[in-house]
This record gives sequence, C-alpha cells and structure tokens, in this order.
Amino acid sequence: TSTKFYDFKVLTKRVTKLCNSKDIVTVNGMFPGPVVYAQEDDRIIVKVTNKTPYNITIHWHGVQQRLSCWSDGPSYITQCPIQTGKSFTYKFTLVKQKGTFLWHAHVSWLRGTVYGAFVVHPKIGVPYPFKHPYKEHIVIIGEYWLQDLVQLERATLASGGGPPPPDAYTINGHPGSNYNCSTNDVFRFHVVPGKTYLLRLINAGLNTENFFAIANHKLTIVEADAEYTKPFTTDRVMLGPGQTLNVLVTTDQPIGRYSMAVGPYMSAKNVHFQNISAIAYFQYLGGVPNTGSLPANLPSFNDNLAVMTVMDGLRSLKEVNVPKEIDENLFVTVGLNVQKCLSKSPKENCKGNSNGVLAASMNNISFIKPKISILEAYYKKINGSFSEDFPDAPIKFYDFVNGAPNNIPYDTQAENGTRTKVLEYGTRVQLILQDTGTVSTENHPIHLHGYSFYVIGYGSGNYNSKTANFNLVDPPYMNTIGVPVGGWAAIRFVADNPGVWFMHCHIEIHQSWGLGTVFIVKNGKGKLETLPDPPADLPQC
Ligand code: C2O
Repeated sequence: TSTKFYDFKVLTKRVTKLCNSKDIVTVNGMFPGPVVYAQEDDRIIVKVTNKTPYNITIHWHGVQQRLSCWSDGPSYITQCPIQTGKSFTYKFTLVKQKGTFLWHAHVSWLRGTVYGAFVVHPKIGVPYPFKHPYKEHIVIIGEYWLQDLVQLERATLASGGGPPPPDAYTINGHPGSNYNCSTNDVFRFHVVPGKTYLLRLINAGLNTENFFAIANHKLTIVEADAEYTKPFTTDRVMLGPGQTLNVLVTTDQPIGRYSMAVGPYMSAKNVHFQNISAIAYFQYLGGVPNTGSLPANLPSFNDNLAVMTVMDGLRSLKEVNVPKEIDENLFVTVGLNVQKCLSKSPKENCKGNSNGVLAASMNNISFIKPKISILEAYYKKINGSFSEDFPDAPIKFYDFVNGAPNNIPYDTQAENGTRTKVLEYGTRVQLILQDTGTVSTENHPIHLHGYSFYVIGYGSGNYNSKTANFNLVDPPYMNTIGVPVGGWAAIRFVADNPGVWFMHCHIEIHQSWGLGTVFIVKNGKGKLETLPDPPADLPQC
C-alpha cells in the first residue's frame, strides 16, 4: 500500500454543449473531473483549493472514512464549506475497501458538474473473482443543465414545485446524437471483437435514476457499490444517483457499431416524463466507422419490474456476516409531503397542494441543515444547532394499504428540524425504510455515509414483520439502496465507525426538500474506536 496525492483545483471553465456556451464549475478544468486511482488500503490525500465564487466541499461517496469523519465532505454535516480562495486537504485510508466509487461536490447542487470516478484496485497479486477482463472502462452517467446549478436549486425551492428535467443526460460528459448540436458530442469506446470488458458504471446524475443498456449485448453484474456480487446476467441495469455497478460485457456480436444508452427511470405516478436518452457508441474495431448503430433497448421510464429484476439478482459473492441480533430497530419513513407554506410563518402547516409547497421528510421531520457543521458542534459541545431527538418511528403514519396514497396529500404535519439519532459505539442497527405516499410514492435511493449495510429484505406495500422474508446469508452490501416505489427495504449495519453520518435521498431535490437525517455514532473505548481531533485546516463557517 502507498499514499496517493491529488491536487484538486476547483475552477470555472467555459464549455460548449447543446448549442450553448457557459461556465461550469469543474475540478482542474475537467468535465467529468479527474479519476482518482488507488489500491485497497491506500492512504489518499487530496488538497482541494477553491478558485470559484461558490462554496465547495468534496465527498468520497462509498468510502467508509474509518476514523476520518472530518474528511467525509457533506456541507454543514461534517464540515463548513471551503470558501472562495481557501483550501482544505482531505485525508483518509481505504481500509479494506476496493471497487468503483465516485467523488462529488456536496454543497448546493454543484455535484451536477463537480464529479468524477474513484477506482480502487485490489492489492497487487490479488485477482478479481472472475476472469480477468481484457480492458476496463469507466462509464459515468450525468445530467447536463444549461442553468447555473446554484440558482437552479434556489429557483426550484422558491417555486414550491418539482425541478425541470435536465437539458440532457450524459455519458462521460457527452449527451450524444439525440440532442441538438450534439452529433459529434458522442462518447465512444473502441472495442476488440471476442474480448471481455469490465465497465465501471457510475450514476453521478442529480435528480434522475437511470437505466443503462447496450444494443445486442448482455451485461453481467459482478460488483455493486464497490462490493463483489454473484455474477448476474441481464439486458439492462438501473442505477440511482450515487450507485455504482461493475458489469462484464463480451464483444461477441458481428462487427459493427452498437449504442450504449442511458435513459430515465421515474416511478412516481402522474409524473410526465420525457423519455429521451443519452447515447454513446460501442464501436467494434474493423467495422466501418460512420455507419448507423443498432439502438439499445431501454425499458420504458416507469418499468418498475425491470428495476426489481435487477434488485432480485444482487447477492453477495460469498456468505456474509450479517448481524443476527439487533440492538436498535428503527422504522423510518421516507417520502415526499406537502409542507412549509410559502407564507411567512414557518410553523404554519399548509393544507393540500394548493397552499403548500413540496417538501420531503424522514419520520415526518424535514431535515434542515444547520449553520455550522454538526460534527464540529458535537465535538466542541456547541449547543443550539441540532437536537438528539430524531424519532425511532414516524410521528404519524398513514397505512396506504387501506388508504389512498396517491390521491389526497393529507400528511401536512411534517415539521422542520435538525434532529439527529445518537448511537452507542458498536450498536447493531436494523433500519426499515418505508416509502410513504403523501404526495406520490416514488423509488428513493437512500445513501448512508460512513458505512455500507446489508440489504436483507425489501418488498412492495407496507412492511409487515410477520410476512417479511430476510436474507441473512448472502445479501448485497451496499451504501445506497433504492427503496422500492410504494414499498420498503430493510438494512443492517454495526455502528462501529464514530462520527456524524448523513443519511439522505441521493435525488438532489429530495435532499434539498429535507429527505435526510443524521446519525451520531459515539466513540468507543480504545484509540481505534475514537475519532481523532479535527485537522488544523478544517474550514470555518
Ligand atoms: Cu453521494 Cu451525501 O452523498
């Protein structure tokens, strides 16, 4: 193992896409940003310097940050943002972690352009648990917006409604020929016939879950969220924002050009969704370069079955050590609701869609980010910016098996708050994540910082402890779980990494609306169970 140093200069860069030129925020002028390469157990040191007029932080999505919570990155959770002209050096060790990760900005909506792949190879001499691929490629799914992303967040929140769709979906930063002025703005891989390739798929999109497929080619999933899985072969996959999947693809088709396509998955009913896809090319060597390409066959945007089929196929490679007993059993609703009147009184609850604005909550608490970081406030015992009373179950719960989830927005009782849940070191936690349907039910990719967790069960409708089936043998070990639309997911983890850890929906607008909460995991007894002191260059608010 070794130490890898990276220098991230955050700066604006003029780019031309979709018939428009505009300044976007980038790292080192690159879009997508630079790939961070490392090996299992490496030490990573990244100096981030902010040369933009915006506040910035960087999060290393999926990295567990063992005893290094100060380097996790979510703004106002573990750090204040790096202000214009300032820098902060992130330092962490990839303890027993390898696979495909991503890094992204974690402040306002800047991760829309500030993102990149993070590839951690096994230690030298340790093979993959599958035949070594001929080559590896990174495929980052993104969204491209012509509007300034900081303004877009503000404008969307002020409107009270949902965000507009992105101006384009992208593959490795390129929208492809379905979009205006983009005939040449297409990403392509040149592939050799008769070989097996490893594709590292990453969804870095802001607000959309996405399907991915390659024309005429099967995808064999071998890794999900940076953990090996039992090989599972499918025609298409779905990734929520923040999720990664490694797939093997064999170039066993006649020489030619095949489309790789990315298109939206939107499970909410009554949502009008434009089914347009980003295209890239899988181009066999030896073919005529500019012939037409075979189209990839994406599911329709509301194909929940296609999503469940992939989920059903995810299993850990081997038997895993799932906590058999649990100390804390939390039931957490995740969902959208109508709340927070646009009128002046913040305490006033709004009734119905017409007077309210869209919001989101966990257990009826709509998460508000504090003014200084929770980790700093907790560490320095500064009172007043958060409380420790996140409820273990929803304050109000409407059973929509008997109710009508998509009809009446009657849960207008959610409250704003910065409420955290405190866990003793070593607590074995079970979380039942239950989608709720106050405004509409929707698949939510819930991401937990600081941990991966076993996804031991999921299903449709309301969770029922009597009928739920748990897999305690080989469940997948993930950091982001798509809670099925109108359904539930059960996860387990051991809280053995002290710090302040954000859990939130990785659909950015849902996070802005408050779909998140925070776990505070206390220190244990020994030095290896204690979070070190904050770094000297930790940004101040
Ligand atoms: Cu990838 Cu809190 O996010």
